[in-house]
Amino acid sequence: MSFDRKIKIAPSILAADFANFGQECRAVEDQGADWVHVDVMDGHFVPNITFGPAMCKAIRPHIRGVMDVHLMIAPVDPYIEAFAEAGSDVITAHVEAGPHIHRTLQAIRGAGARAGLALNPGTPAAAAAPLLDDIDLICVMTVNPGFGGQKFILSQIDKVRELRAMIGDRPIHIEIDGGVDPVTAPLVAAAGADVLVAGSAVFKGGSVSNSAPYGENIRAIREAAEAALR
Ligand code: DX5
Ligand code: ZN
Repeated sequence: MSFDRKIKIAPSILAADFANFGQECRAVEDQGADWVHVDVMDGHFVPNITFGPAMCKAIRPHIRGVMDVHLMIAPVDPYIEAFAEAGSDVITAHVEAGPHIHRTLQAIRGAGARAGLALNPGTPAAAAAPLLDDIDLICVMTVNPGFGGQKFILSQIDKVRELRAMIGDRPIHIEIDGGVDPVTAPLVAAAGADVLVAGSAVFKGGSVSNSAPYGENIRAIREAAEAALR
């Protein structure tokens, strides 16, 4: 997994057909997705339950590129090894999920994955400052985690700008998660984000048997984001 700051679109399979995850992953990649974003929820850290490491392992052979696993679970540490073994390229944990985020990030890298740090909308950018040497990605939540299809929280754009300045030349991705569409994508791209997670805005209008709309949706988000950088 090489580093660059080009805009990357990461469809969240939270908005995919749960009966067809493998095919959905192939479909979005064929339609131009850069990464595949996998939302793991435990019904405890967030008020929703999705799936665990066995599902990640099952879809791994259907993903050619980056499998980006977003853990919305607490505790995190007991499950890191299993998600790494499942073939996750990036494992992201929430700073709010426990008292020992530094240990968690070290364990993620120790297990051979890239380490991501997620910040809820109520958590300031400063929470990332002591951890910059220990992370490969910061995930800025632009909705409260737990569900797809929520409204983008505009106040988070200043946080993205602050994080971008804080990161400087370090090879750390800024990922945006929640409410990304062709209207909000340019705002976060201009503020310094490079990985745009999108669930509803990618999967809307399509299906595994009619995946062309995925491609149109991905292109619309990418073009809107790239236009903001010109
Ligand atoms: C929210 C998840 C997101 C979600 C985004 O808890 O982390 O990845 O799927 O969905 P949309 O793009 O519909 O806001
Ligand atoms: Zn997510």
